[in-house]
Amino acid sequence: PQGSPTPQPPQSTPASAEDVTVVLPGPAPDEQAGHHVQGPQQSQAAVPQPAQPEAEPVVIVPAPREGEAELAQNADDLDTRGAEQEDLADQERHGAESAAAVAEARQSTGPAAPGYDPAEREAVLKVMRERRDIRNGFRSDPIPHDVLLRVLEAAHHAPSVGHSQPWDFVVIRSADTRRTMHELAMRQRDAYAKSLPKGRAKQFKELKIEAILDTPVNIVVTADPTRGGRHTLGRHTQPQMAPYSAALAVENLWLAARAEGLGVGWVSFFDEREMVRALGLPEHLEVIAYLCVGYVDEFPDEPELLQAGWSKRRPLSWVVHEETYGRRALPGEEPHDLLAETVAQIRPLDAKALGEAWERQKRMTKPAGALGMLEIISAQLSGLSRQCPPPIPEPAAVAIFAGDHGVHAQGVTPWPQEVTAQMVANFLGGGAVCNAFATQVGAEVCIVDVGVAADLPATPGLLPRKVRAGTSDMTTGPAMTREEAKQAIEVGIDTARDLVAAGNKALLTGEMGIANTTASAALISVFTGADPAEVTGRGTGINDETLARKTEVVRRALELHQPDPADPVGVLATIGGFEHAAIVGLLLGGASLRTPVILDGVSAGAAALVARAIAPEVLAACIAGHRSAEPGHVAALNKLGLRPLVDLDLRLGEGTGALLALPLVQSTARAMHEVATFDSAGVTEK
Ligand SMILES: Cc1cc2nc3c(=O)[nH]c(=O)nc-3n(C[C@H](O)[C@H](O)[C@H](O)COP(=O)(O)O)c2cc1C
Repeated sequence: PQGSPTPQPPQSTPASAEDVTVVLPGPAPDEQAGHHVQGPQQSQAAVPQPAQPEAEPVVIVPAPREGEAELAQNADDLDTRGAEQEDLADQERHGAESAAAVAEARQSTGPAAPGYDPAEREAVLKVMRERRDIRNGFRSDPIPHDVLLRVLEAAHHAPSVGHSQPWDFVVIRSADTRRTMHELAMRQRDAYAKSLPKGRAKQFKELKIEAILDTPVNIVVTADPTRGGRHTLGRHTQPQMAPYSAALAVENLWLAARAEGLGVGWVSFFDEREMVRALGLPEHLEVIAYLCVGYVDEFPDEPELLQAGWSKRRPLSWVVHEETYGRRALPGEEPHDLLAETVAQIRPLDAKALGEAWERQKRMTKPAGALGMLEIISAQLSGLSRQCPPPIPEPAAVAIFAGDHGVHAQGVTPWPQEVTAQMVANFLGGGAVCNAFATQVGAEVCIVDVGVAADLPATPGLLPRKVRAGTSDMTTGPAMTREEAKQAIEVGIDTARDLVAAGNKALLTGEMGIANTTASAALISVFTGADPAEVTGRGTGINDETLARKTEVVRRALELHQPDPADPVGVLATIGGFEHAAIVGLLLGGASLRTPVILDGVSAGAAALVARAIAPEVLAACIAGHRSAEPGHVAALNKLGLRPLVDLDLRLGEGTGALLALPLVQSTARAMHEVATFDSAGVTEK
């Protein structure tokens, strides 16, 4: 069946204005059932027969040139079929209800269209790999007209919705115009810098974000949302398809420029309407891109932002899903379980870097051991990062996971449940203690709705990742299903991945959930073996009567479920909270990415016990930020063997204790970088 199919003469086709050359190879007899699909690697050029005179073809079918495979198409693509065939095909199309029927309709006959030969393919892939956004090292050499023309032609070949070709290219060389645009960009740069947490702003100051005055040519790419008329095919339901199309033209331009040795830098630090006015563009146009173009000294191997430590590259395996979102698998691989994959990547501290850190601490100009606990933290950071001195954990982000609890119905707290959602709104508005502390220590605040009972409006800074609108009451049944517990853990893993890929070098845990200290106490009781009375605390400050009730609630839940600490996900599902599960994920995710995670209070302690039961080496990444006033927290820290950095009777949550500890962790890493050694400073040792 892989031999040359017998070609049939083309059917009579009305002449069209388009220059169409098609061959419809007929199937070999044993292929007629349509089960044979030929991959490109198996394809063999069919040998066309000369057209039969009686067929009176109006489509000219040239014989393929030497070494050139002929173009074959699926029967469905051709309008050369008889009415009978069309009816059949229509019935098939409309009647196809099962996946099998769909697959049947797509069976191909004949060889597939050939790809490029390996050298050509490599050239295409190479230009995609080696295209860079350039802001530094531009030269003033002029760009010859023919070169710029080739680049613009490439852009103009881009795909577009309904073939509307909505783009225009305004080529700017005028120094005056470029100066005007530069001023606008500088204003936006300042506004953006002011909006950044201190940890980020420091980094941003060092970055160049445009090369408007350094390049001989700037190109403005616009989209006309009205082009193609009212009925543009495909834009009807999605008006954004017009700007998407123009963005594809930008990518074509960018790739073609790279092939010409031209650097391109995309500048988006503009107010779009202000830009339209400054450039004197028609008001109905949208500006899609402002590009700085010129010859360069070199093309960096990696994105400049990556080289500057602003961001990290996300692996392909994080973003390819098989059949349904969440079943991550690269082609040819079995889908991998996110939790299992994350756990498999967690490693103990690196012994070599750890040893170097101890050695360096001894050589630093201070008495050995004089930094006490901070020396241990600096060694941990070295072992975790496998580098001595370790990277300074800045910028940092606190992930505040918010969720509600069915056990609230048991009267474990005087605070109404809606306070969870109200406090989330407060965090987003910047009015909570965590915001003040985060501003002070320069950390980003990231709020994650993993299970708040109320619907929360979309707001910048809020990640909507609700597994369910609150857990069920653990005294009457499991708080969540096992699947939900895993899903919430995955929310935490994904949050860790996102924050680390965005360039954060330390993660902090935070949480908000009215009644969540009840779930924390239950978890801590299971993993420490302590009696509920020893680990149940006053949370927000409840009275004796409520404390007694809360303790009984924990006891009843444990008696009902008899949770088995050897099954940590099962324990989470029966008596945990969505925010506890998400913190478990954040810890595992941080550890798998060799990024330190600073734990906040009792809920983080409870989550760390669960995480340790899943992957003992997770503790390599964990630093206890503080000791809270909750008795359960002390029990958890003792069991974990972690010594808290701050001990100030805080009992707020929200990540506040972890935020206060952040400068201590950063200071110890910085000391490793900046403190002189006895030899380098010429200081005599004792
Ligand atoms: C839509 C878009 C807007 C961008 N805006 C800017 C910008 O304003 N300033 C800048 O320096 N880089 C900008 N870039 C470049 C990105 O930072 C760059 O593409 C990214 O860091 C990856 O690097 P690479 O393009 O070299 O692979 C933009 C890129 C895109 C796709």
